[in-house]
Amino acid sequence: MADRYLRFAGTAPGRFLTRRLGLPQPVPLHRFPPGRPSLGGGLLHLTAGKSALDLAPVLARTDLPADTGAPAAVVLDATGVRDVDALAEVHAALHPVVRSVASSGRIVVLGSPLAADDHHQAAAQQALEGFVRSLGKEIGRGRTVNLLRLTDAGAAESTLRFLLSPRSAYVSGQVIETGAAPRADVDWARPLAGRTALVTGGARGIGAAVAVTLARDGARVVVLDVPQAGQDARRVAEELGGTALALDITAADAGERIAAALPDGLDVLVHNAGITRDRRLVNMPAERWSPVLEVNLAGVLRTTDALLGAGVVNRGGRIVATASIAGLAGNAGQTNYGASKAGIVGLVRCLAPHALAEHGVTVNAVAPGFIETRMTAAVPLLIREAGRRMNSLAQGGLPADVAETTAWLAHPASGAVNGQVVRVCGQSLLGA
Ligand SMILES: NC(=O)c1ccc[n+]([C@@H]2O[C@H](COP(=O)([O-])OP(=O)(O)OC[C@H]3O[C@@H](n4cnc5c(N)ncnc54)[C@H](O)[C@@H]3O)[C@@H](O)[C@H]2O)c1
Repeated sequence: MADRYLRFAGTAPGRFLTRRLGLPQPVPLHRFPPGRPSLGGGLLHLTAGKSALDLAPVLARTDLPADTGAPAAVVLDATGVRDVDALAEVHAALHPVVRSVASSGRIVVLGSPLAADDHHQAAAQQALEGFVRSLGKEIGRGRTVNLLRLTDAGAAESTLRFLLSPRSAYVSGQVIETGAAPRADVDWARPLAGRTALVTGGARGIGAAVAVTLARDGARVVVLDVPQAGQDARRVAEELGGTALALDITAADAGERIAAALPDGLDVLVHNAGITRDRRLVNMPAERWSPVLEVNLAGVLRTTDALLGAGVVNRGGRIVATASIAGLAGNAGQTNYGASKAGIVGLVRCLAPHALAEHGVTVNAVAPGFIETRMTAAVPLLIREAGRRMNSLAQGGLPADVAETTAWLAHPASGAVNGQVVRVCGQSLLGA
């Protein structure tokens, strides 16, 4: 379902009218086409407080030339902000440049983990979160603002590259934390070469886009979907030189059957399959409750346990599960869906440190907002329009936006990203 308002708002009369009427003014986002991989402008590196971070070598390896005029990207290193006074330096650094940041540009603020024993540092660092989220809501013109809390710039390289590229077009207002990780020697053009990925629900929508993106990054992809979607799954698999696996993820033996199909194990496991059976709780019979919890949560828990337990997910592997902003903010008519997706957040946060320590595998989640798919095309017009506009970018995201975020989490150099729930929602007004 094409977004006609977005197209109209981009015409001269559309711009005039939307401005006069105070309506949302979405701009077409600069996404990631292989021919135009970078933001198309320069990088401005600023500092607030006394930083001990060795950032320059990592920034030098991005494709962005230094730029102090009209930058496409601004990195503000605020890791050394330890008190309220130093927050004035955040203002002083960004106030003069914010107007000049290019359309679809990026502002990435770097912070430090909150100290457990220094409440002045914790207050100042937490302040950065409110700052970033507020700036994201006011900056407009397709520009995004995110906060990255890090301790080691080298280990955060894949995350910085993602946030400073068109791949993160629909990720804004997010707080991401990276830890330490051994250096990975990667081919940044085809990081998943030689790796195997399995995408559940890969026959269409977001899952198909994830499959295509992981294959673009070099992975051998197995497209799993229910037998009824077999034809679509085979078509997607054929297009990207992968294989299809007809399987219902809720089957009791799903884990064993996946293991049998992957004798060399698995490097990237993407739990994308999901369903909705919306009804308000008063009208929701158990027949609508159970399948949603079964597909979206119980199936994910069972297959994860089976595959990790049997050692099918190789060391250095990545698990990416799919939550939803409905699981973070709640949504009327979706008690079953909201519960299942919040469950994914619990699973990720709890399992991540154990899976890393015991299996060398990271576990993260993407939480999509309003994404243009068949699922959202079926939503009644007015609710669909509200879903599209009620975010800082005033438009819906595309399956490719979720896919690029998944590809970053699946990246061999993303070992320092663990237990994160990253919203791909254009900074939706729903939820935190
Ligand atoms: N579209 C959105 O705006 C949005 C927003 C938030 C979260 N999500 C989540 O993203 C994921 C993908 O959403 P989508 O919009 O592409 O949905 P979709 O309905 O287009 O695709 C889902 C796919 O999962 C498959 N599937 C369903 N049950 C399965 C099962 N038991 N075993 C194997 N495969 C199964 C379906 O056959 C289908 O191919 C879902 O988890 C969804 O909850 C979507």
